[in-house]
Formats: sequence, structure tokens, C-alpha cells
Amino acid sequence: MLDKIDQFQKEFLQELEGVKNRGEINELRVKYLGRKGVIKSLLKQLPSLTVEEKRRLGGKINQLKKLVEKKLAEQEEKLNQEQPLTSQGEFLPHWPSQFGRLHPIEWMRQRVLNIFHHLGFVEFKGPHIENDWFNFAGLNIPPGHPARDLWDTLYLNQNDKKGNPLLLRTHTSNIQLRALEKYGVPLRVMAFDRCFRREILDPRHSHTFSQFEVLVVDKGINMNHLKWLSDYFLKEILGQVTESRFRPKYYPFVEPGVGVDAKCVFCNGKGCPICSYSGWFEIAGAGMVHPQVLKNAGIDPNEYSGFAWGFGPDRMLMLMTGVNDIRQFYQGDFQFLKGGR
Ligand code: DAH
Repeated sequence: MLDKIDQFQKEFLQELEGVKNRGEINELRVKYLGRKGVIKSLLKQLPSLTVEEKRRLGGKINQLKKLVEKKLAEQEEKLNQEQPLTSQGEFLPHWPSQFGRLHPIEWMRQRVLNIFHHLGFVEFKGPHIENDWFNFAGLNIPPGHPARDLWDTLYLNQNDKKGNPLLLRTHTSNIQLRALEKYGVPLRVMAFDRCFRREILDPRHSHTFSQFEVLVVDKGINMNHLKWLSDYFLKEILGQVTESRFRPKYYPFVEPGVGVDAKCVFCNGKGCPICSYSGWFEIAGAGMVHPQVLKNAGIDPNEYSGFAWGFGPDRMLMLMTGVNDIRQFYQGDFQFLKGGR
């Protein structure tokens, strides 16, 4: 075995002489020091030897290992001097480096949150898997009520600990009671997050989508505040040329409820193909918080009032960017995210 060790040493030194680049150094490293390399195979033979031989040969093998490590390091250093990495095409990356950018939804999220931060709103996070109470019943939509048909809901076949059915939240309105319970009144909260519905998928419908929600509860809050905020937000996000318009609309958790429209920024309200010749875009749902919802949060509706406001940022983003399929925001298609599709 002693001869074998000497033989390997000789071979190694010869091979080292012929080495021309870092790739070949690595090959030698693997051949001698690797998991299935020469040194490991020599060490494996040790257990069958006597204690005396073990000591002698073990020492020898160790010397060989040290020598290989030292010589390889020296050779590597020599190569570094002769051929600095920058002049070695083979080790430079072959692809142009790429800068990341914000996902369009994240870009929108930051813009919207920023606008409302300036007005004193704090972000509130609600769970994606929600129970029936916070998503529906607590918001004045009891089980079996026809208003539930407004939301095509994905239920889990599981209840929470209190026996409440679990579902994927259909809107960010599920934060309303949660935020009121956690912080009490007066309150100004907002949420920008994902929601889920059982949709027949098409360019305007995705099972996963985003919503933005605002809730204000305080003494003396009225429709004027809601109208002012709608105008302010739409002008901030779409430009000063737009303005808001209210239409009566039914949502069980507000009374009165309104649909909020924005004046078309492409035709200044005259009517064009983008706004389907109506001059307006339907943007948001809103209204004064229903007294029953305040009661459900333990708040006296004779003392406090509030408004809630919710809209779909995906649709607005489509309008702003010309993207014509909502599903593209959720597919992670690299070409699309780079702006190439
Ligand atoms: N949650 C409603 C939806 O998903 C949108 C909405 C309507 C939110 C009225 C509100 C509101 O806060 O007051 O369609």
C-alpha cells in the first residue's frame, strides 16, 4: 500500500504539471479529494490493517492529502496571477444581467396605500381563509339570504372551532368587523389584498383578484365625507381631469349604498369606445356603514357613524395600462411581467 501511495503522489504531480485552466484544476480536485476520490478510497482500506500499519499508512495518506491541497491551491493562485478572472471568458456570466421591477399589482398597491397613508389610514391585514361571520353574517348577510348570491363563494368543507363554515374570502370587507373589534372607535383602516371567487374564467374574471377597502368610523361621519374622499382618490390616481359620481346601489352592509363612477379620462365624459360610450367607469362600491354592522361590533349606532368604500384595483390597472386580460396579473408569465406581452 505504501507503494500505491507513492505512485498516486507521482501521478498527481505529473498531472498537475499539465494543468492549463481552472476547469482542469477542479477536475484534479474531484479526482483526488472528492467523495469518491483517491484519498477516500485509500482511507477505506485502513480498517483491515493492524494498528501499527494504520498509524504509519494513515499518516502517509494524510501527507498526500495535504500535499494535494497545497499544490492545487498554489496552482490556482498562479493561474489567478497569469489569467485574472475578468480576462477569462469561460468564467464570466454568459447572460446580460437583469434588473427586477415591481409586479403591476404591487406597483398599484403601493400607489393606493400611499394616497391613503397621507390621509391617516393604517393598513389592516385580514385572513384569506375566513369564517362565515366576518365575510357574510356579521356584515348583515345572514345564511340563506338572497344577497349571498352576489358573491360566488368557494367554501372549504371544514368549519372553524366554533362551528362557523370556512371559506375563501370573497371581498376585503371581511376586515371591517375584525378591525373594529381589534381597535374600536374612532377608526380609519384600509386593506389591499387578494380575494377569491368561483368565477367562469375569461379576460374580465379571475378566481383570484385584488380588492381595496376603506373603513372610517367616528362621530359625525356623513355622506359628504364619502363623496369628498371618492373625488380626492380618483383625482389622485387617474388625474385631475376626472371626478366621481354616485348612483344608488345595494350592498347589505351599507345604508344607503352607492356605486361610485369615475368620469372617463379618455374622452372627458363625452363617450368613447373605452368607456362603452357612457362617459363613466364603474369603479367602486361604498356607503354609510349599516347600523346593524356597527351593533355587531358592539358600537352604538346612535353615537357613531361611518362609511365603507371598496374597489377592484385590477380593473383600474387594466384601464390605466391597456392590459386586456385580468388573468395575466396572476399567471407569473415572465414575458408579460417584463412588459413584452
Ligand atoms: N365588498 C363589495 C364587493 O365585493 C364592495 C364594497 C361595496 C365594499 C360597498 C364596501 C362597500 O366597503 O361599502 O363587491
